[in-house]
Amino acid sequence: MPPEPGDNSSLGLALLGSGNVGAGVVAALNEGAARYALQVGRPLALRQVLVRDATRARPGLGDAHLTISIDEVLADRDVQIVIELMGGEHPAREYIERALASGRHVVTANKEVMAKHGAALLAVAAQHGVRLLYEASVGGGIPVISPLSRDLLANELTAVTAIINGTTNYMLTGMARDGTDYAVALAEAQRLGYAEPDPTADVEGIDATYKLAILCGLAFHAAVAPDDVARQGISRLAARDFRYAEALGYTIKLLAIGRLVDGGVVASVQPTLIARDEPLAKVDGVLNAVQIEGDLVGRVLFIGRGAGPGPTSSAVLADVLDVARDIVAGRTPLAAPEQRVLPVHPPALHRSRYYLRVTVQDRPRVLARLAGVLGEHEISIASVIQFETDDDARTAELVITTHHAPGSAMEAALSEIRALDAVVEVGNVLAMGG
Ligand code: NAP
Ligand code: HSE
Repeated sequence: MPPEPGDNSSLGLALLGSGNVGAGVVAALNEGAARYALQVGRPLALRQVLVRDATRARPGLGDAHLTISIDEVLADRDVQIVIELMGGEHPAREYIERALASGRHVVTANKEVMAKHGAALLAVAAQHGVRLLYEASVGGGIPVISPLSRDLLANELTAVTAIINGTTNYMLTGMARDGTDYAVALAEAQRLGYAEPDPTADVEGIDATYKLAILCGLAFHAAVAPDDVARQGISRLAARDFRYAEALGYTIKLLAIGRLVDGGVVASVQPTLIARDEPLAKVDGVLNAVQIEGDLVGRVLFIGRGAGPGPTSSAVLADVLDVARDIVAGRTPLAAPEQRVLPVHPPALHRSRYYLRVTVQDRPRVLARLAGVLGEHEISIASVIQFETDDDARTAELVITTHHAPGSAMEAALSEIRALDAVVEVGNVLAMGG
């Protein structure tokens, strides 16, 4: 219903979850109250806060009602915007759906829910004439959902290449800079509070697959599920991979890549060697970056802090202010645009350059055997370097880089290489950019 002219009553907000990000949102709402009222045309008022433990004191909540009951939150008819900051798939998905179905606009930072259920929830929002906004779900404070949904719409976007997990980027930066092994880098990230006690979602690339699925859906106007994304984590990386990469002129980043190829989408999250002069190679520490390529705009790069209460609140509140201005102006939300149906190519069809680190017996014709196997699978070698030898064990470590080859050819070649008598171990196989 359009607002009454001169209506200066407050717009009611509810917060589902008041942890790290929720506390940041509460602080920013308090500090920025006067500015936000000016931008929106009416004050914002936090009315309801849902948590698991309502006995714990939470600073800055003012008159807001603290509760453990979603029913109480949704029974408050003065709540117009629900901000979901609980995280996890359940019950967050159900609460978002209930809020939308009850006619509330919803703002969420939940990448897992948006990656798995975004299309269905956007349809519920459209059905009930409300908005579902999720800028904070990818890249924390970096504006990326909004540029993909609006500013770059005129383009046929062909590639999204991103560093979208701050924890792993912090660890990889340390491994490259200090020559430390994976376990040392993880312990340091946990000590500083970047990595969770159970780091699986970050280090195995799961968090990044959620974010990439969301980015691909928007960039290519096609449904990409997290399970469609080929995934390799960083836990097999060793200090020597960074030494060898550096000697070759590269560094290693956990890259999330989505591409439009042959009328379909190719999507992967994997540790990747990238040339040290590439802009993404210089994105270090907890920073995130998203590079987008379009037919009209060329290449654009967004870079900034991908996590933390401040950056994430920036994105959450941008969405809140956007929808609040719509409410005040009486604007009716547009339905999300239709998605086209595009195939998502399986990893076997992905083409890449490769880095192979192989420990072999240090004797004649071994290199020729390896080269022979790669050649039989039409994989062309770009360079071979024998980096280290162990005279006592009479072994040597070879690093082979290849030209572009399909994943299926590399998989087949690797199973033959592993079976060769002279091969002690295939230490690592990584994708290479370029
Ligand atoms: P968090 O610190 O773990 O806070 C979660 C909050 O939700 C807590 O207040 C918790 O209540 C509440 N909660 C959880 N499950 C609940 C349930 N079943 N019922 C009621 N309340 C429940 O999480 P966070 O780091 O703030 O992250 C929130 C969201 O933002 C997640 O979707 C996350 O992926 C996203 N995000 C986070 C960051 C970041 O830097 N942390 C960056 C970008 C996006 P109690 O306080 O009572 O335990
Ligand atoms: N765990 C995420 C990261 C933060 O390390 O980037 C929230 O998305």
